[in-house]
Amino acid sequence: MGFPDYRPRRMRRNENLRRMVRETFLSVDDLVYPLFVVPGSSVREEISSMPGQYRFSVDRLAQEARIIKELGIPAVLLFGVPQHKDPLGSEAYAADGIVQRAVREIKDAVPELVVITDVCLCEYTDHGHCGKIERGEVDNDATLELLSRIAVSHARAGADVVAPSDMMDGRVGAIRHALDREGFGQIAILSYAAKYCSSFYGPFREAAESAPRFGDRRGYQMDPPNWREALREVELDIQEGADMVMVKPALPYLDVICRVREAFDLPVAAYQVSGEYAMIQAAGRLNWVDAERAMIETLTGIKRAGADLIITYFAVAAARVLGHG
Ligand code: PBG
Repeated sequence: MGFPDYRPRRMRRNENLRRMVRETFLSVDDLVYPLFVVPGSSVREEISSMPGQYRFSVDRLAQEARIIKELGIPAVLLFGVPQHKDPLGSEAYAADGIVQRAVREIKDAVPELVVITDVCLCEYTDHGHCGKIERGEVDNDATLELLSRIAVSHARAGADVVAPSDMMDGRVGAIRHALDREGFGQIAILSYAAKYCSSFYGPFREAAESAPRFGDRRGYQMDPPNWREALREVELDIQEGADMVMVKPALPYLDVICRVREAFDLPVAAYQVSGEYAMIQAAGRLNWVDAERAMIETLTGIKRAGADLIITYFAVAAARVLGHG
C-alpha cells in the first residue's frame, strides 16, 4: 500500500498519536552514571572539558550517591585518580586505594545503589598504559595477574560489578577465576568487550589523568573500521564468563551495538563516552544545537540500536528530563 492510501503523517499529528506508535522507550532504568574520585577532602571540581561533570573526593560521594538514588538511576561506574602512580599501578589494587574507599563510602550511604568499578591500570601507572610494560610494549599475560588483583580488591570493598576496560586478551577469564577463588562468585563482570581506540576519550583522559606518556593504545584497543572483530571479541568474553558486554564509544559504533544485540543474548551496554558528551555540551553552549534535545535524541538512538544499558555523563540530566519509571 502506497501513497495516497497510506499517509505516514496521519500518526504524527499530535503528541498522543505519536505516543501510541512510539517504538523505543528510554528509561531511567537504562542509565549508569560515571563518577571520578580524586584524593583530598571536600573536593568537587568541575572538569573543564566536560562542563557539568565533577571530580569528587571520597567524603563528597555519599551526598552525590543520594542524589543519584533519588533520581532513580540504578548504578554508578567508578573511576579513581590515585595519590601516587608507579610502573605497576599498585594503588589500583591497594586495600585502601581511592576506588576501594569510594566503594565503601557509597555502599555505606546508599547500599542499594549498584556500584560498578572500572578495572584498569592506566590511571594508576606512571607511563599511563593499561598494563605492565615489557620492552616498550604492554605485556598481555603479565597484566592479567594485576587486573585480577584489582577486581578482587574491588569486590572485597563491596563492588557489585567489575568492568575491565583494558582490552587485554583473556582478562575476563582470569578475573572470573580470581573472583571465584576468593569467594566472590556472585560478583558480575561487565566487560568492555568491543572497546575501540577512539579520539572521543580525550576529555576522560584529562579527568582521569590517564593519557599515555608514550605511544598510544592502538596495540590493544580495537581498530575503528572493524565490526566482525567486535563480534569475535564479544564471543570470547562471553565464553570466558562475562555477564554483560559493552560496546564503546556509542554513537560512532551504533552498527556494532546493533550487530552485537542481534548475535548474542546477553545484556548489551553502550558507553556514550566523554568526547560524545563534550561535543554536545560545546555545541549547546554555542547555541549551535539544543543540547537537551541532542542528549535525549542520542540516548534514544543508542537504545534503538539495541543497548540495554547506557553508561552516560548525561545520566543525571536525562533522569531529570525523564522523571521516574
Ligand atoms: C580506561 C578507560 C578509558 C575510558 C574508560 N575507561 C580511557 C581510555 O581507554 O583511554 C574512556 C571513557 C570516556 O571517554 O568517557 N582504560
